[in-house]
Amino acid sequence: MSGASTVPLLPGAIPLLGHAALIARDPLRFFDTARDHGPVVRVLIGTQPAYVVSSPELVRHMHLKGNGDTFDKGGRLFESADELAGGGLVTIPMAKHRQQRPLVQPVFHHTRLPGYVEQMARVAEATIGGWRNGQVIDVGVETNRIATGVLAETLFLGPGSREASELVCRCLPTYMDGVAVRALLPSLNRLPLPSNRRFMRAMHELHRTLERLISERRNSGTDEGDIVTPLLEAGDALSNRDVRDHLVTFLLAGSETTAGLLAWTVRELTLHPHIYADLQNEVDDVLQGAIPSIEHLPRLPLLSTVLTEAMRLHPPLWALTRATLEEATLGEHTLPPHADVFFSHHALLRDPRVFPEPNHFVPGRWERDRISKEQREAMIPFGLGPRKCIGEDFAMLEASVVVATLLQRFRLHTETPARVSGRARVRVSQRPSQLRVRLESRRPS
Ligand code: HEM
Repeated sequence: MSGASTVPLLPGAIPLLGHAALIARDPLRFFDTARDHGPVVRVLIGTQPAYVVSSPELVRHMHLKGNGDTFDKGGRLFESADELAGGGLVTIPMAKHRQQRPLVQPVFHHTRLPGYVEQMARVAEATIGGWRNGQVIDVGVETNRIATGVLAETLFLGPGSREASELVCRCLPTYMDGVAVRALLPSLNRLPLPSNRRFMRAMHELHRTLERLISERRNSGTDEGDIVTPLLEAGDALSNRDVRDHLVTFLLAGSETTAGLLAWTVRELTLHPHIYADLQNEVDDVLQGAIPSIEHLPRLPLLSTVLTEAMRLHPPLWALTRATLEEATLGEHTLPPHADVFFSHHALLRDPRVFPEPNHFVPGRWERDRISKEQREAMIPFGLGPRKCIGEDFAMLEASVVVATLLQRFRLHTETPARVSGRARVRVSQRPSQLRVRLESRRPS
C-alpha cells in the first residue's frame, strides 16, 4: 500500500499558486484532467496539498463512509460557506447532522409531494402565463425566479417568506459566485474588493431578513406547516442562528440548483430540435392542455430521460469536497487525517469509460433496458449515503412541472447562442450564461 506522499502529483502546479490558477482558468477541464491522470491525484491549492478522487467506486466509497468516522463535511469549501450558512444541513458535521436531519425530513415525506406539485404548477403557471408572444427572456434569470418562487410557496409559508425568497433571488448569484472563489483563494476575502463588498452586503441583507422572520414566528407561535415550524419546535437544540443557517441553506440549496437544471434543459432542447419536437408531442398527448399534476408525471417518460440527461451533462453541483477525519484508505492509497478531498460530479458524469459519447446529449441512454449498473452507480448528481440531497424528489417534480408548463405555452427559439463549450467559471453551481430565448405563443393570447 502506498502512502499519501506517493499519490501522484497532478502536473501543472506553479510556485505559490499551485493548481489554483488552473482551476480558476477552467474548473471543469481541471477535473477532467485530474480524472484522466488516475483514480486519486494530489494537487496544491496555493501551497496546501489536497486530493482529487475521480474513480466512481472510490467516490461512492467516500460517500458511503461519509458517516463522520473517516470522511466528513469540512475543509476549505465548507469553511468558506461558514459565515453564510455554517450551521445549515449541507455544511454541519455528521455528529450534529444525525440529530438535525430528522427534524426536517417529514417536510419532504412523499405524502407531502402531491400538494407541492399543485403549488409548483401554480407558480409555473403564474410566471410563465405572464410571458408574452415575441418576448425575449433571460433563461437563467427566469428559472431562478421560478425556483425561488416555488420555495416561497411550498417550504416557506409564513409572513416575510416571500420577501426572503425575493431577496435570495437577487442576492444569490453574487453569493454563489463569491463562495467558491473564496474557498479557492481565501486570502482574497480580506481584500477591499468591490466583489467582496457586494458579497458581504448580499449576505447581511439576507441574514437580517431571515432573523426578522424567525423572531416574528417565535413570537406568534403559528404553525404554517412549513420548514420553519419544525426548526423552531426543536427548542433549545437550535439557536436562532442555527435556524437562520438552516433557512439560508434551504433557500440556496433549493433554488440555484433547480434553476440550473431548468436552464440547462432549455438549452439542450433548443440545441436538439428533434428531441424537442418529440418531447413537445409527449407533453401535448399526455396533458391535453391540462395543468400538470403528480398523476401525469409518470406518463412522461421522455421528459424524465431529458431531465436526467441534462443533469448528467451539466450537474448543477459539479464538484464538492470532504475532509478526512483520520487516515483514510482509498484504493491503493492512504490519505492523511485532515486532508481536503475533492470529487467532481462533472468529471464522473463525463467519464468516457462509463458513458459512451460523454459530451453528447443522448436522453435515450437512460431508457430502462439500456442503462448499465455501472452507469446507474456513477449517476449521483444528488449525492449518496447519509448526506444525500433531501430535496431530490422535490427538485425532479419541480423541473418536470415547469418544463411541461413551458412547452405547453410556448415554442422556444434561441436568441443568443448559449456559451456552452466556452469556459466555465469557478462557481458553486454552473449555469449557462446569457441564454436568451424568444417565446412564440402556442395558444392564442
Ligand atoms: C437539481 C436540483 C438539485 C441538485 C442537483 C442537488 C444536489 C445536491 C447534492 C449533490 C447534495 C449532496 C451534497 C454533498 O454530498 O456534500 C445535496 C444536498 C442537499 N440538498 Fe440538494 N440538490 C438539488 C435540489 C435541492 C432542493 C430542491 C432542496 C430543498 C428544497 C435541496 C436541499 C438540499 C439539502 C438540505 C442538502 C443537505 C442534505 C444533508 O446533508 O442532509 N436540494 N443536494
